[in-house]
Order: sequence, then structure tokens, then C-alpha cells
Amino acid sequence: MNQNIQREISDAGIAILTFDRPGSTANIFDSATLDDLNEHLGFLETEKSLKGLMIRSAKQKIFIAGADLNGFTREMSAERIGAVIDRGQKTFERIARLPYPTVAAIHGAALGGGLEIALACDYRIASSDPTTKLGLPETNLGILPCWGGSTRLPRLIGLPSALEVIMTGRQYPAAQALALGLIDAVVFPEKLLAAVAAKIQRSAGKKRTNTTHLSNQPLLSRFIKSRAEKKALARTRGHYPAPLKALEVACASLDVPHEQSLANEKAGFIELALSETAQNLIGVFFLQERSKKLKLPDDLDAAALPPAKSVTNGLVIGAGLMGAGIAQWLSGRGINIVLKDVGPGPLGKGMQSIARLYSDAVKRQLFSETEARSAMDRILPIYEEIPLRRIDLAIEAVVEQLALKQQIFAGLESTVPADTVLASNTSSLSLDEIGAPLHHPERVVGIHFFNPVHRMQLVEIVRGSKTNAATLNAAIQFVKRIGKMPVLVNDSPGFLVNRILLPYIGEAIRLFAYGYRLETIDRLMLDFGMPMGPLRLTDEIGLELVEQVGNDLTNRIRHLGPLDGTLGKMIAKGWLGRKSGKGFYDYGAGGEGKVHAPAGDLQPPEPETVDEDELRNRLLLSMVNEAARTIEENVVRAPEDVDFGMIMGTGWAPFRGGPLRYADHVGIATVVSRLNSLREHVGQYFEPCGLLTGMVNAGATFYPKRDTDSSSSDVLSPK
Ligand code: NAI
Repeated sequence: MNQNIQREISDAGIAILTFDRPGSTANIFDSATLDDLNEHLGFLETEKSLKGLMIRSAKQKIFIAGADLNGFTREMSAERIGAVIDRGQKTFERIARLPYPTVAAIHGAALGGGLEIALACDYRIASSDPTTKLGLPETNLGILPCWGGSTRLPRLIGLPSALEVIMTGRQYPAAQALALGLIDAVVFPEKLLAAVAAKIQRSAGKKRTNTTHLSNQPLLSRFIKSRAEKKALARTRGHYPAPLKALEVACASLDVPHEQSLANEKAGFIELALSETAQNLIGVFFLQERSKKLKLPDDLDAAALPPAKSVTNGLVIGAGLMGAGIAQWLSGRGINIVLKDVGPGPLGKGMQSIARLYSDAVKRQLFSETEARSAMDRILPIYEEIPLRRIDLAIEAVVEQLALKQQIFAGLESTVPADTVLASNTSSLSLDEIGAPLHHPERVVGIHFFNPVHRMQLVEIVRGSKTNAATLNAAIQFVKRIGKMPVLVNDSPGFLVNRILLPYIGEAIRLFAYGYRLETIDRLMLDFGMPMGPLRLTDEIGLELVEQVGNDLTNRIRHLGPLDGTLGKMIAKGWLGRKSGKGFYDYGAGGEGKVHAPAGDLQPPEPETVDEDELRNRLLLSMVNEAARTIEENVVRAPEDVDFGMIMGTGWAPFRGGPLRYADHVGIATVVSRLNSLREHVGQYFEPCGLLTGMVNAGATFYPKRDTDSSSSDVLSPK
């Protein structure tokens, strides 16, 4: 018993609860931890002579990461969820009612339930360590803070700040948390415990007295509520009910008694949690966890491998858009980088964009000025040959030309040590062909970052037919260590994400070329839940790259419809997308983009009838069909890889769970019948793939069908 939380009483009479879940780097609220906490509370409630309580964590990077979502299956009933909520609320109420001052000593991540327990304390003091982050991410999972967070926060920091924290689900570094009022002080990590003990001493046994916030007055709060509601509706296009429900509960908390507000939290949570949206969003969380645990595939012998060497020195070849982004990310994670390009011109541009990235990161408080400066100092820009004997991993990010990449890899083989991993960031070229001229093609692997590197968490790790276990393992460990999320794909045209994305973009361009309005095409997909429409996305990626990758794919995958010539005409006019200021949209002087009317002149008149359902199906089913093919052709191993890749790599409507989850939701038979109808009316390229038609005959789905309730979680099980 009581393995998760240790208790001691200091000489000064302060009780200290140290959260330290055995065998894990994280503390979470699972059933056993809540048991332990309640047991300690039994003691703490009777020891009235204590001077105060300190709650701390023994973990290096995590205070408490939140409630364990593992037991939160799609089948959980309202009663079970309700009982779990009651349990957490009651436990935290016990903390709030302790008769002496209570202080949370926050070092590392305090998220969800981890922040809610801190909110139940009188004071919160945090370490200035970069790992310290505070937030209530629940609304991002389609639910709301229900262990007192939605109730306590508005009173503590005022409605506007509380709504910002709750409705955005953002995570705040200590300095920002202090500005918001989430914490009372920030101190150096080594001073944290002493600062908390001093705070308790200074409180001289007294609990905190509540302050009232002007913004919590009824008239003002009504105004704040309606403004926040409008903003959330515009941001979510009505697809995400959680921020709005949380808004309702948090605002009401100012008008109703505390117990009633806790009951509102519970009712709101249950309503949200049972929805498909929440289940899909929680599903995305688990897909991310799954990615963090990525291992070598079963056909490779992991046991025979030595542990992958950690990367201290890296070489990035090409200082363009991607090379600069990669060099910045890696140098920010402590890796020394040699950044190579053909001359001082491109290198200077690359270093300037790295400096810009760091200066933005400093503004956003992700790095201090000193950290950013030392990270920049870790980059050595070169355009001449230098010895590269200490390079652990090389990443090539030069222009997308096979012959050039082959030449670079052949050169690398003779200049870097024999165990250096040789990686390419190619978007779609064949890894096998890139490695073909090498004596040891087994050293070549794809490490495909997404643009912009500092924002996109996904990295495709591409396994060529020759890539060996040691190389693949080194790539997997490297991607995890730099804080990105890997998906493993086999070498094939466009790998996973571009393979599915390009047919969709190609279809949007065909619709445009047929005369359908740009606004209609993009609006349909925004309404579906994509972060931007496909033509806007084309502008963002750049028309030339879309054409290059699109042509490469249509040459290598026979069933794909060819790219429409409209794209080439636009490129010839210098309309290259956002980077040239004009594409499908006109970006003016760095503006957000209005429709670029001259592009519309390339279109025939709009068809007389516009069947929006058909347009939507054409766009979506081009992706679903191709997504199914990536499973059929063994590009990836599981539907989870596809859905994870598309959500993390393109922002594919997360609340719908990804293209294959969506296919299950619509019904595979319906998907196939719609594809067949499009094949008849639009073109042969809509022919459903063999996997989909076979699934109809077998009555199969990509994911297991829902069972009727039988949740057997040990973690969230109510007591
Ligand atoms: P870019 O055109 O911005 O940069 C390419 C850089 O490579 C230029 O600075 C150029 O001077 C340099 N270069 C050319 N030959 C070189 C050589 N022999 N040695 C050293 N440097 C040389 O291209 P971008 O967009 O950064 O793409 C690079 C690679 O990343 C390509 O393979 C591309 O397919 C891939 N990629 C691009 C993405 C994007 O959104 N732009 C996304 C993911 C991958």
C-alpha cells in the first residue's frame, strides 16, 4: 500500500507529500494514487498541530501529468464516469478543507488533474525550469476540467484569464503562469522546497483569504462570456462543443454555490465524454502515446542490437527552408550542428531564418535569450569541405533531385564514420534509389520532417528495403529524443502523408479547373473540420512542390488521376503560392489572403448545378481510398498509423479521428458505393481499392466494432 506517495513530517512541523509513482517517469492520478492520497488525508485531517502541507513530486520533468485516461474506453457508462468524477472532487475537497496552509511545489508538468490538485491548495510556487508547464488541456480532449478546476479557477484568477486557460487548453511556462495568476511565485529549481517551506512559515497557520476580481461582477462577466462564446464559435466552427460547455460551467461557477458548480462540472463532463467527438479526441491522445512508444518492427531483431548511440554531433546538408528548420530544432535540443550548403549566399539566408526562429521562440518564452544564443552558437555554417569524423547522424535536405541526392550520399559514405546514420528528408523520392550507389545502402534511412519543422510534431521514418535494424533503431531513438513523434513507413511513393494528401489536393485542383468556385471548394473542407481548405493548403505548401511531388506520384502510381494543367499555368505566371505573394489567393503585403481573381480567369464558367455532397465526397473519398491502399500495400502496419499520420501531419479533422476512423463511421459499404458512383460519373481513378471492396464482403471495419459496455479499467475505476 501507498507506493505512489510518500509522507514525511519536517522538523518544522510541515507535512510533505511526495508523489513518486514507481517504475515510471510520470505521476498520474490513477485509482491506486487516489487511494494513497485519501489514506494520507485520513492522517493529515487528524493532525491539527501541523504547520502546513507541501505537495511535491520526485520526478525530474513531471509534477503530476493529470488523470490516467487509460481506462477511458469508448464503452464507459455515464454512471462509471460520474463515480470517477465524484471521487476526484471529494479527494481535492479534503485537501482544500485542511485546517492549515497548503502549498503545491510545482516542478515539471502540472496538467489537468495535476493542476487541479494544486488549485485546491492555498498557494502554488513553481520552479523556473523549462520543464515546468501548467495547463488544463481537457477541452483539447473534448472534455472539461471536472475535479474542481472549472469552479476554482475563475474565482482565483478572474474570469477572462480563467476562460483563456480552460478554453484554449494551452500549457504555460512558469513566467506566463505567474503573469496569469495561476501561481504565486517562481523560483530557481534548487530553491523550490525552501521557498515553499518559507511560505508556510510566513502564513503562520492561516489559510489564504479569497480576493475578489472586478471582472467577476455579474454585468462584466456576462459581457466577457458572450465575447468568449463568439470567439470560440468562430475558432471551432461549431465542431468542438467542449470549450463552449466549459465556458458555461466556468461562468456559472460565479453565480452558484461551490457544490452546485462541482455538480455542473460533473454533468457537463459526462455529456461531453460520451460524444463521438470526445472519444475521437481522446483517441488522438492515445495515438500520440503510441507513437512515443514506437519500436522496431517484429521482423527485425531488436534484442541483438546495442542501445542506439545518442546524437551529439549532427550534419545538416542544405540550409533552405527545411534544412534551416531542422538545424534550428536540433541545436535547440543540445545537438552540435554542422550546416552545409553550396555557398555563403544560401548559408547566410539559412542562418537568418534560424535567428528569426529563435527570436520568435524567445518572444514565446520557449527559450531564454541566453539559451537561444548558445543554441545558435552550436551551429557551424560551412560551404567548404571540412573533416566530418565526429558526426553521429547526417540529414540531407537539398533540393528534390535524385541524382544530386545520390551524389551527396555517395560522398558522405567516404567522409563520415562507418556508424554514422545517413538520413534523407526527401518528400517522396525512393529511398532505395537514393541509396543505390552506396557500398552500404543499409545505412540509409528516411527522416522526413514536416514544414514548418518547429511546429509540426510528426516525423515519418522511412524504411528502405535495405535499411538495417541498427540504422532504423537509431533513427527511431533519435526522433523520440528530439521530442518529435515518429510514424514508421516503408519506402514507397509519397510515403504515407503525401501519398494520401496529394490525390486530395489533385482533386481540388481538378474541381477548380472544372469551374467550381475556390470559396466553395475550400469552405466545404473547412466545414468538415480541416484546418484549411485544399487550395489554401496548396498555396501554403507552394505550387511548385505540389507539382513536383504530384507528378512524381502520378508517374509511379498508375491508378492516380494526372494533375490538371491549371497548376502548371499558374506556376508559369509566377503564382507560386504564399511564398510569391500570389497563388489561388492573393496575400498582399503579408496579409491573410483574399481570393486571387486573376487565377479565377483560368477557370471556365461555374457549372450550373453545384452538388456540394458530391464535391465533398470527391475530396474526402480520394483520401479515404488512398489511405486504405497504404494498408493494402503495407506502407504502414495499422490503421492507427494512417490516422495518426494524417492528423499530426496535415491537421486532418482530429475530432473525426482520421480518414480510416471516418470510413468506419460512414460505413465501409457506403464508402465503396459512393466511390463506385464517382467512378461511373467522374472517372476511373475513383475505383475503390481491393481492400475496401473485400472489407464490404467480409463485413469488416478498420477498427474493432464497439462492444456493449464492459469497461474493466483499473485506473479510473471508482471506489
Ligand atoms: P530549398 O530549396 O528551400 O532548400 C534546398 C537547399 O539545398 C538550398 O539552400 C540549396 O542551396 C541547397 N543545396 C543544393 N545543392 C546542394 C549541395 N550539393 N550541397 C548542399 N546544399 C545544397 O528546399 P526545401 O524546401 O528545404 O526542401 C529540401 C528537401 O526537403 C527536399 O528533399 C524536399 O522534398 C524536402 N521537404 C520539403 C518540404 C517543404 O515543405 N518544403 C517538407 C518536407 C520535406
